[in-house]
Amino acid sequence: MMKLMLLFLTLNLQLVTGAPEQVHLAFYNTPWDISVSWITFEESDAVLTFGTSASNFVNKTGNTTSWEFGGIIRHSHVVILDNLKPSTLYYYKIADRQFSFRTLTADLTSYKVCVFGDLGVFNGRSTQSIINNGIAGKFDFIVHIGDLAYDLHSNNGKLGDQYMNLLEPVISKIPYMVIAGNHENDGKNFTNFKNRFTMPQNGGKDNQFYSIDIGPVHWTGLSTEYYGFVEDYGNASIFTQFNWLKNDLEKANSNRGNVPWITLFQHRPFYCSVELAADCTLYENVVLRHGALGLPGLEPEYIQNSVDIGFAGHMHAYERMWPVANMKYYHGKEAYHNPVAPVYILTGSAVS
Ligand SMILES: *[C@@H]1O[C@H](CO)[C@@H](O)[C@H](O)[C@H]1NC(C)=O
Ligand SMILES: *[C@@H]1O[C@H](CO)[C@@H](O)[C@H](O)[C@H]1NC(C)=O
Ligand SMILES: *[C@@H]1O[C@H](CO)[C@@H](O)[C@H](O)[C@H]1NC(C)=O
Ligand SMILES: *[C@@H]1O[C@H](CO)[C@@H](O)[C@H](O)[C@H]1NC(C)=O
Ligand SMILES: [Fe+2]
Repeated sequence: MMKLMLLFLTLNLQLVTGAPEQVHLAFYNTPWDISVSWITFEESDAVLTFGTSASNFVNKTGNTTSWEFGGIIRHSHVVILDNLKPSTLYYYKIADRQFSFRTLTADLTSYKVCVFGDLGVFNGRSTQSIINNGIAGKFDFIVHIGDLAYDLHSNNGKLGDQYMNLLEPVISKIPYMVIAGNHENDGKNFTNFKNRFTMPQNGGKDNQFYSIDIGPVHWTGLSTEYYGFVEDYGNASIFTQFNWLKNDLEKANSNRGNVPWITLFQHRPFYCSVELAADCTLYENVVLRHGALGLPGLEPEYIQNSVDIGFAGHMHAYERMWPVANMKYYHGKEAYHNPVAPVYILTGSAVS
């Protein structure tokens, strides 16, 4: 009984102090620019202190966005730490909470990425392993290809808060790159998704599409949800993204001398062989691949610009495709050697 009382007291205290929570990192426009994001439930400044040792800590300020969802006002803060030095351990402190992260090595010829889709609070069977392996330095950043928390907006966003706090030990230490899945539609045009994250700014400004060069790989993230929710939010974003993608991939393809690989990530797959999804012959897969009813499909751009690897989630399964284009698979022992078409990996089993 006493213990319970104490617990309640602690929780209440946390609420009134407006402590920073849900602290997480992401690459901003280059691997040497890191966005630090967090939430408070009381108004406070977007300011943190950082440095490589106690003797050189400096303050850095950023921006705050206050937003309402389900009657709760959250204050999202973001500070950009730019022009960071490679292979360097940085400490940062928000209010009285201290964290640290290490930047990538200068040459970037080798790094490890943890890519998955579909991870929830309940039944998140990979959560502990992602946290442990991330903290142990087994990978350098995370790409979560949509469907977060199940859902970020559930219970007026409190499940999203819980999820971000659950992952904080790892995502306050290594960059957490996200795109939206169907579960990020909160009925308010992805308000939770837009306001909780800070992705690179060279694409849409809503974290749904962007690209970044990291060493030998050009990474491009896309929204399949503009298609999925075209009835709710209109088709303008589909065309904006498509025109941007065309340009992004053409530029990346002509820059192979510097950045030889092109990797795409999106929530819903073009191809799969899981029974539930009828081998991805559903309308949602067809429209994404080839387009329909005047909406542009994405696969021709992938083929045209020789995309190397495409990651997707949504189906709670793991599958690696043969190289494939226009529904034609290229089988054989040598198929993966200089493949003639993109290779897709489905990794949507993180899981919930
Ligand atoms: C840094 O920010 C903290 C928190 O807002 C503030 O208390 C402190 O005075 C600032 N220090 C400097 C040198 O501006
Ligand atoms: C912060 O706000 C300024 C002014 O609106 C803007 O130029 C800048 O891009 C914003 N930074 C971030 C990280 O959102
Ligand atoms: C939804 O948000 C996007 C940008 O994130 C915006 O371009 C679009 O106009 C919005 N649509 C509606 C219906 O509010
Ligand atoms: C896109 O939306 C506009 C406005 O609703 C509509 O007039 C137009 O026909 C749509 N285009 C396609 C290809 O669906
Ligand atoms: Fe999904």
